[in-house]
Amino acid sequence: MKILFFGTKSYDREFFKEGLQDEKYKEIEIKFIEPNLTPETAELAHGYDAVCAFVNMDLCTRTIQILHEAGIKLILMRCAGFNNVDLKEAKKLGIQVMRVPSYSPEAVAEHAMALVLTANRHMHKAYIRGRENDFSLAGLMGINLYQKTAGIIGTGKIGAAFARICHGFGMNVIAVDAYHNPTLDFVKYVDMDTLLKESDLISLHCPMTEENHHMINEKTIAKMKDGVILVNTSRGGLINTEDLIQGIRNGKFFAVGLDVYEEETGFVYEDMSDQILNRSTMARLLSFPNVMVTSHQGFFTREALDAIRRTTLDNAVDFMKGTESPNTL
Ligand code: NAI
Repeated sequence: MKILFFGTKSYDREFFKEGLQDEKYKEIEIKFIEPNLTPETAELAHGYDAVCAFVNMDLCTRTIQILHEAGIKLILMRCAGFNNVDLKEAKKLGIQVMRVPSYSPEAVAEHAMALVLTANRHMHKAYIRGRENDFSLAGLMGINLYQKTAGIIGTGKIGAAFARICHGFGMNVIAVDAYHNPTLDFVKYVDMDTLLKESDLISLHCPMTEENHHMINEKTIAKMKDGVILVNTSRGGLINTEDLIQGIRNGKFFAVGLDVYEEETGFVYEDMSDQILNRSTMARLLSFPNVMVTSHQGFFTREALDAIRRTTLDNAVDFMKGTESPNTL
């Protein structure tokens, strides 16, 4: 099976090349290329059986149609999210789409807590100050997390891992989810209004669906405590960014940590340090001293990349053998 890997970086190549040494993947041949999969690049898939793509690529109707014309039978998503894939079109054209549903919930949950701690205790500023021999403390004051309330929206795999971390910090943990996770006996499930009203820290861990689009907006922000910390490591579309910016300007938030944002496609994972950002939303978010932004890197640990590689290659093998897989979308 010949697979064309789109949008590969050095770490993708390193991990997958190492994985191919395993005898069980001997029938797989991979070509790594740098461009992302979009309608403009999909034609490169001619001559391959499958393509492999990531969360930041554009697998819209047109991309899927071009892949179909190129003879592609399988799309391997090397990620969990698939809101960027037109699954209906893929199904209609007989292209199987597979993903990696879970690789390391702890990787994302730990990153969410890293955002909380960095933004709350101003680590990013303290680091820069220290390097300039500036050991003053003004402007660096944070708040204790101990005995505060963490409100978790979505207690699936990642939300549960984050709940356990918050519990370890000595926080009271409340959550909203229609499904009550039986492993979280220390969590009190509440309704959304109660969560918004009582939480000192709110962390989003639900998927991006039509219903969840802009769940954090002017109205929900108004219901939050003043001085709340908000963290989003799920999907940018869960937050109405304009309303968030207004809330930040109004002083509603003590700190905001964002690993994902609405405009991320196009520049996430790219080095744009020599360019002027032409997207004003991102530029405005970066201008606030209490906002910490990272580049959709919650997943980015050794353990997670190892699991992504294993499941993606196993998915290809299952497809070749015609084995039914729960990873098929
Ligand atoms: P999961 O499917 O295990 O859990 C999601 C939970 O959210 C479910 O329990 C579901 O019932 C709940 N939910 C759905 N809508 C809700 C709502 N409106 N209110 C409250 N709960 C709601 O998913 P998992 O693995 O925990 O991932 C969560 C999200 O994390 C993914 O959808 C993805 O967007 C994001 N993610 C981010 C990564 C990153 O690198 N930053 C990496 C991997 C995933």
